[in-house]
Amino acid sequence: MPLTSFNFSSLAALLLAAVPLAASAQGASGPIKVGLMLPYSGTYAALGNAIENGFKLYVQEQGGKLAGREIQYFKVDDESEPPKATDNVNKLIKRDNVDVLVGTVHSGVALAMAKAAKDNNTLLVIPNAGADAITGPMCGANIVRSSFSNWQPGYAMGVVAAQKGVKRAMTITWNYAAGAESTKGFTEGLEKGGGKVVKDMNLPFPNVEFQALLTEIAAQKPDAVYAFFAGGGAVKFVKDYAAAGLNKTIPLYGPGFLTDGTLEAQGAAAQNMLTTLHYADNLDTPKNNAFRKAYAIAYKSQPDVYAVQGYDAAQILANGLKAVGGDLTKRDQLAAAMRKTPVDSPRGKFTLSAAGNPVQDIYLREVKGNNNEFRSIAVKALADPARGCKL
Ligand code: PHB
Repeated sequence: MPLTSFNFSSLAALLLAAVPLAASAQGASGPIKVGLMLPYSGTYAALGNAIENGFKLYVQEQGGKLAGREIQYFKVDDESEPPKATDNVNKLIKRDNVDVLVGTVHSGVALAMAKAAKDNNTLLVIPNAGADAITGPMCGANIVRSSFSNWQPGYAMGVVAAQKGVKRAMTITWNYAAGAESTKGFTEGLEKGGGKVVKDMNLPFPNVEFQALLTEIAAQKPDAVYAFFAGGGAVKFVKDYAAAGLNKTIPLYGPGFLTDGTLEAQGAAAQNMLTTLHYADNLDTPKNNAFRKAYAIAYKSQPDVYAVQGYDAAQILANGLKAVGGDLTKRDQLAAAMRKTPVDSPRGKFTLSAAGNPVQDIYLREVKGNNNEFRSIAVKALADPARGCKL
């Protein structure tokens, strides 16, 4: 149409025609709008990318559709910046009008997402952030997690450390919800087995100036150190710990984030490290083998726990959509089915608790080359205590 003939009445006609389209995206037909809010920059950037890759891999395996409906993606880089989180999530909820939110990595950002999801009654699938409160006091019928609570791997590592005879441990982490909660879980597991934490140390997120704290560890000589770091920060910490020679005398333990998706960069510094997590690279099951093969073909790189959590976030959404034949107007039924359907994950089958958090085996893994290899089940079918969740 020539520009001159584009008058107000034709604009009005166009707008009117667009209204039923926008409405149907929320209903029973048309594409389902998925809002990916993840870190694509900063210390957690690689984690965000792996989650997106995993999510999209599952959707691709279903022919690009879930329950017969196309998936349309909207993306926001949350930069792992809690102060920007509310504005960022509102771009997806209010501007893009997404049907479901998927995100994020950082617990502080995820807490703001959970609040917005509750306020707007938007579906939220969390593919990483372990903030205990989200499946605790803030739990909601419209919120599920495909990953873990911060307490879970921490607690399991505490149990293992106590079994290894650790009596005096120190902890070191970033000063925010994930670090504090992971450390708390570790302390609980360790104390249950008769050990104790003699000192907790932290630094602001995402700082990596570890020298003064490493000097303190050398002076205190604990039986073991427990560290929560992830992404770029984990690479630097594990290398600095080894460069200071501490790994020769004081075992460095952590939740598996310390060595997941990081091993190529950590190299020799990470070898033989023991960590606990709900995934191990070499789980020899048909599901994990098929997942790893498909991921490597699609992305020319090896998957990690974050890719698994992204893949499972898509599976959980698919489970809900299947139960309602793709009809988003049946929201409550959809949300209930997301929670009730067991998930056939590359990590092994798991269920979701009433609070919406995975009930899962936590594995003890050992670093060999570029893999976190399965050693044993540290704690079987571990459920987060979900303290404060009333549903
Ligand atoms: C979190 O902030 O909850 C968090 C971030 C990165 C991880 C694990 C947990 O690898």
